[in-house]
Order: sequence, then C-alpha cells, then structure tokens
Amino acid sequence: MNKLDFLGSKKRTHYAEGLSPRNINKEVFLMGWVHRRRDLGSLIFIDLRDVSGIIQIVFKPDNIELHNKAGRLRHEYVVAVQGKVMARDPQNVNPGMKTGEIEVLALELLLLNDSAPLPVQINENILAEENLRLQYRYLDLRRERLKNIIIRRHEIIFAMREFLVEKGFYEIETPMLMKSTPEGARDYLVPSRIHKGKFFALPQSPQIYKQLLMIAGFDKYFQIARCFRDEDLRADRQPEFTQLDIEMSFVEPEDIFSIMEQMFIYIFRKVLNMDLKTPFPRLQYREAMEKYGIDKPDLRFGLELINLTDVLRNTGFQVFSDVIKKKGSVRSLVIPGCGNYSRRQLDELVDIARHLGAPGLAHCKVDAGDLTGGIAKFLSDQEKKAILQKTSAQPDDLILLAAGSDKMVFKILAELRNHFGRVLQLYRNEEYCFVWITDFPLFEFNEEENRWETAHHMFTLPKEEHLSYFEDEGKFHKIEGLLYDLVCNGVELSSGSIRCHRLDIQKKIFSVLGFSQSELEEKFGFFLNALQYGTPPHGGIAPGIDRIVMLMSQADSIRDVIAFPKTLQAADLMTNSPDKVDDAQLAELGILLREK
Ligand code: AMO
Repeated sequence: MNKLDFLGSKKRTHYAEGLSPRNINKEVFLMGWVHRRRDLGSLIFIDLRDVSGIIQIVFKPDNIELHNKAGRLRHEYVVAVQGKVMARDPQNVNPGMKTGEIEVLALELLLLNDSAPLPVQINENILAEENLRLQYRYLDLRRERLKNIIIRRHEIIFAMREFLVEKGFYEIETPMLMKSTPEGARDYLVPSRIHKGKFFALPQSPQIYKQLLMIAGFDKYFQIARCFRDEDLRADRQPEFTQLDIEMSFVEPEDIFSIMEQMFIYIFRKVLNMDLKTPFPRLQYREAMEKYGIDKPDLRFGLELINLTDVLRNTGFQVFSDVIKKKGSVRSLVIPGCGNYSRRQLDELVDIARHLGAPGLAHCKVDAGDLTGGIAKFLSDQEKKAILQKTSAQPDDLILLAAGSDKMVFKILAELRNHFGRVLQLYRNEEYCFVWITDFPLFEFNEEENRWETAHHMFTLPKEEHLSYFEDEGKFHKIEGLLYDLVCNGVELSSGSIRCHRLDIQKKIFSVLGFSQSELEEKFGFFLNALQYGTPPHGGIAPGIDRIVMLMSQADSIRDVIAFPKTLQAADLMTNSPDKVDDAQLAELGILLREK
C-alpha cells in the first residue's frame, strides 16, 4: 500500500494544455492522472493527464527522495506536481503533442490516490471489447476521443441555449411522469405506489406539453428534453435520448426553417468554426423517394434512381412484366465503372437485396454501346437502347435493376445507393449536406392491420387544400400535412410540423385513425378539451441532439456521444440495470410478477 498525501489547501495553478512556451521558467502546480510513465533509470518521465490534455513531467535523479517517489508511480495514479516549466531539448520536442515543446521539471510530488490495475486500457490504440468498456464506462470516458466528444456535446448544447435565448425563447421543463398516450413507440411505464394498479409513462417526447404551453401563451418555447422510447435499437437509436424540443406560436413552416437554419449556422460556426451554406435545399417527400428511394437521402453524392417502368412496360421478360402488371415498378441504379464486377461481388449485392426481403436483384453492364451480361439476354434491342438512353449509362458501368412494389424497390435501391456511396468513397466525412424534406403524406395504410396510421405525427395540420379529401377514404393517401424533416448526410436530424390548432380538424384526423369516442376521451380528453380554449396556430420541431453530436464529431455509434449509454439490448452494463427489485418494493406497488 502506498502512503498517500493530502492536498490540503494547495491550489492548481494551470491545466496541462494551458501551458505553452510562454510559461517557461514559471513555477506551476498541476493535478491529474499518470497517463504514461517511462523510467530511464536516471530520468523518469510522466505524462500527466487532466481534463485539458497532457503535459510531460520530468523527475531528475538529483533529488533522491522525489525520484524514488516518482519511481513508485503507476498508470492512473492521481498526483499533484509542483514544478518549473522548461523548454525541451530540441531533439526531444514532440510535434504530435500540443505541449510538445515544453516539459515540467518536478520539484514536489503528492500522491493523492493510487489505482488498481485497469480492466480496460485508456490507450487509444488498444480498444477492449465494447461491452467491457461499457461496464467500466467511467474509465472508457478517460479516453481522449470520448472525452472530446462529451465536451463537444456540452459546447453544442450550450450554443443552442445561447442562440435560442437570444432569439426570445423561454426554456421550460415539462413533466417526466406523464400519462401513457399512443405516440408511435412503446412507453416506459412507471407504477404508482399511491394509486395502486395505475401507471405513469415516461415521455416519448414533450409533444403534448409543448402544445399546451402554446395554448397557455408562452409563444416561443424550448427544452433540452430527455425522451424515452421502448423500441428496437439501432446504431443511431437509444431508448433514452435527448431532443432540442422547440415550439412557436403564430408561425408557418418558413419561420421554422429560418430559425433552424440560423441556429445550425450559429452552432457550426461556434463549435466547428465552419460556415454552413443556407438556405438548405428542399425536396418534397415524393421527389426524395423518386430520386433516392428514401426520405432521408445522403446528398453528399448523386447516384439517383432511374424509373424504368415505362421503358419496360411491354417487356417479354416475365419477372418485370408481372411486377408492372401488379402496379409495381422497375427502377435502376447506375454504378459507374463497376461493370467488371465478379460473380462474387454481384452475389454480395443480391444478398443485400435478399436481406431486405426482395426475391433478388437484376443486373447488366454497358459494353461497347450495348447492354450485356445478367438479364440483358431477356431484353429486346429496343428496350436495351431505351435503357441506355434513359439512364445515360456509360461504358463499363454496372446497371442494377430492382422490381417489385414501390416500397420494396425504394428500400433496396436506397440501401444499395448508400452502400456504393460508402464503397466508392463518393463523399468526404467532413462534408455536411443538409436538406429539408417537406410535404409528407399525413396518413399511410397499414396493410397488415388493415387500418390507416399517421405517417409521422397525429397532431399535424393538413394542407388547407386537402381538407376536402377527409370526406373520401379513397383520397386519404393524398392528404399531405405541413410536415418537415431536416436531414443531413442521410441522417434524420430533426422532425417537426405545424400543428392542428383546430379541434374540428383534429377530430377528423383521429377519426381516420379509427379512435373510438371513448378511446379519444380516455387517451386525449384533456388535450382535446384544451384545444377549444383559444389555441393559437403553432408549430415546432425537435432536432435530435445525440444525432447532431454524432454528425459533428464523426461518431459512428450513438453510444459514443452519450456519457452513460445503454447497449443495443437496452441495458446499462455498468449499473447492471434493468434489474430485479425486492418483493417488498413490488408489494408496496401492488405488483405481482407472473411466472414466465
Ligand atoms: P421524432 O419522433 O421524429 O419527432 O423525433 C425527433 C428527432 O429525435 C431524434 N430521435 C432519436 N434519437 C435517438 N434515439 C432515438 N430512439 C430517437 N428517436 C428520435 C431524431 C428525430 O429526428 N415530437 C416530435 C417532434 C416535433 O414534431 O416537434 C418528435 O418527437 O433525430
């Protein structure tokens, strides 16, 4: 056991990376962790790490006691060092290190705490398996990359607050314990002890409350809002995540676009020192689907889908003609220079399509002004010519063709488009291509459950010119809402809408969704009631903060941008939760667990 020192009233004078050649010959007092240690016998070097970064400390042998003490230091011991800033010998200057031109000659060393051998290394080059790192998250957070991302997150949120407060928004908190209302995903439920057999839900978003704040008259609201959704997780989804929730009264979509564009300009300039180009381009939902097969297209590269349905309407190739007869479509992607793909490479593409539920994927290639290989032999000369003309494909290009329902074809080609964007390196990671997607349909028909669902959001104002369509079920699919998403580099960053401030229209929406009168009363009675007391026209948006931080720090996983994230199985490995609770706790809540 090492003898530990107390800090007493000693104060830190500098952070490691606050030091520069300007401080040479100055006495400083530093505190931090032993990041690395090199014992050269006579000289001992310590890389001292604190929140700012790293500085090299040198212990010389002339002070035997101090030198011996330094010799006992190990990785991650916590120390305080008094010393003098010196210029490094020219041959020891380290240009890869911010403080590489200087070092601190130690004059006094306090050992404030020692550390057990680490279960995960802090060294960036050797990453332990992720689950182990999540179990010891507080150690993983000592890694420079993660630390920098968490600090960047703070800077981004701070910039959001600064911007919105300056624009006259009020930051207002809304409840964490609320009523369970159907909002898309499953709720996390919280049992009530006082009202046995009854439950609160954690908010999936503060949607209803922010609308009630507009009814209350607050005009411009924002909140850094924690949201909870019990849904299947993915690389950019967590069960507990954070939105910048925004709502404004007396606005139209243009006002929301403008304030958001200004905010992103502000954040990017402040945090990344980067100038964004505005206005962001806009794409109508239908156009986005036609061109990219997806409502969150990555616009860092082209590679647009081309609809060949008309060209192949009378084809003798039965796979295509059957699909077209059933009102499906045949669409293609032209992959430049990949006409020489091997069997194995083509099979990998077919696997991607099959994985998404498609029966297959057709291909052919451009060869001396003709189409050859794959399905080319089933096409007439006229069809081949028309395909070449419509796709503008060039020699050695690969043409991929997907046939089926629009939904399936879009899904496959959008995935393949992203695949080739990545594989052919059609973009740079540091580029940011924002786009507004607008004019979404309000409803989608769920074939499996044979009912209409909201495509996005049930509190959205339909377009005025589409209100008459509510009278005819055959036209429900044509009703568009004042809905918009902000997408960047293929990621849905934000989603919002102008809300339905009129009770009569909101009731029509609920009736399309098939809510019975009693269900409405039970689930939304309080909200419908509120709508009748002078609700102003209002609308808002909710940028997902985790995704913004991912984008602005080039993180592939959402877990890298949250200090204490959950795994893909929605568990916290560090605290081992969710976990069982005592029978006594359950009894108090009036809960009896069923046998599995
Ligand atoms: P929506 O459900 O589209 O809209 O969410 C808005 C934004 O929140 C982010 N997001 C998520 N981030 C991480 N993990 C998740 N599980 C997750 N789910 C959503 C996304 C998304 O764009 N109340 C409306 C907003 C509004 O209309 O004002 C809402 O919640 O970046």
